[in-house]
Amino acid sequence: DKGNHRHFMQKEIYEQPVVVAQTLRSYLRPLEAQVALPDIEFDLSSVERVVVVACGTASYVGMIGKYWIEQLARIPVEVDVASEYRYRDPVLLPNTLGLVISQSGETADTLAALRHMKAAGVTTGGIINVPTSSMAREVDLLLPTHAGPEIGVASTKAFTCQLAVMAALATNLARAKGRLADEADVVEHLQHVPEAMSMALAHDAEIEAMAPKIAAARDVLYLGRGPEFPLALEGALKLKEISYIHAEGYASGEMKHGPIALIDEQVPLIVIAPSGPLFDKTVSNMQEAQARGAQVVLISDAEGIAQAGENTIATIEMPKVHPLIAPLVYAVPVQLLAYHVAVAKGTDVDQPRNLAKSVTVE
Ligand code: F6R
Repeated sequence: DKGNHRHFMQKEIYEQPVVVAQTLRSYLRPLEAQVALPDIEFDLSSVERVVVVACGTASYVGMIGKYWIEQLARIPVEVDVASEYRYRDPVLLPNTLGLVISQSGETADTLAALRHMKAAGVTTGGIINVPTSSMAREVDLLLPTHAGPEIGVASTKAFTCQLAVMAALATNLARAKGRLADEADVVEHLQHVPEAMSMALAHDAEIEAMAPKIAAARDVLYLGRGPEFPLALEGALKLKEISYIHAEGYASGEMKHGPIALIDEQVPLIVIAPSGPLFDKTVSNMQEAQARGAQVVLISDAEGIAQAGENTIATIEMPKVHPLIAPLVYAVPVQLLAYHVAVAKGTDVDQPRNLAKSVTVE
């Protein structure tokens, strides 16, 4: 049932403050100011490396997790797409945590990668939405998301719930390694996510209004730095799968190594850049593209927009949030933009051509 919504995707985008809160509830103990993992009988302090394997949108959660786990816990993280991982004879060292991420828990390549890691004898974990799925049954440590059933083929609420669990895992790894300075602080930031997502959703009408401009484009580029780089990849994937517009995400600093050659007045550039230590660098990459005529949409907070919002075709103002939670909050406008562009183009948002919700064949 879509309720008041036109599409399941729209409904699922709107459900995010609630389902992310629901997911976080099983990972946060606010009274103890703790971030916990459910019933884990496993000593996280023995983890010396993490290998994340997933497909599509779930693999971007792995990439964002790499920034978080490496920064907070100082544990090296490798991320791979399952279709490559399972066939490339990967090296699995002892004390590796093998982590799969999947909404359905049935994606054929991810399941095969999980079995490969189990056969190699490493401890496996899974961030999984469907509790009765094959992966949920087979992982050693189940880290559930509580997104509820996701009907729209394009993943939205599963993505942000996976990020919430990934943040909880990174925090727990950091504590196990004796590197968590202020856990109460992390709890506070994570508890702020649902409210900040609601504030992001309040920009829906603005995003809808700018969508026709993007819908007319043949190519769209997304830029981000740090944890917002995988979000740029996610934005591009979302746009191409439901609107059929060619889109690519790049790490901002890679622009001058090739993709800037694509820039002209016809190419919208979606820049995902919360204010903070990486902001100036990203903005200088953005300005190089603007100098070549790029039509920029800047997604930032008030401070970032005041500093760099000139000469853009549009800005989308996010609340000022802690860098840890920025990918969850900035995911909302990225999803809404893809949604409204697809609606403007008249494509089938919930059932895009050539795609299946659960990819159980390789
Ligand atoms: C993109 C999308 C896909 C899935 C991928 C993995 O919107 O939905 O890229 O993320 O097929 O699916 P799961 O998470 O079920 O393993």
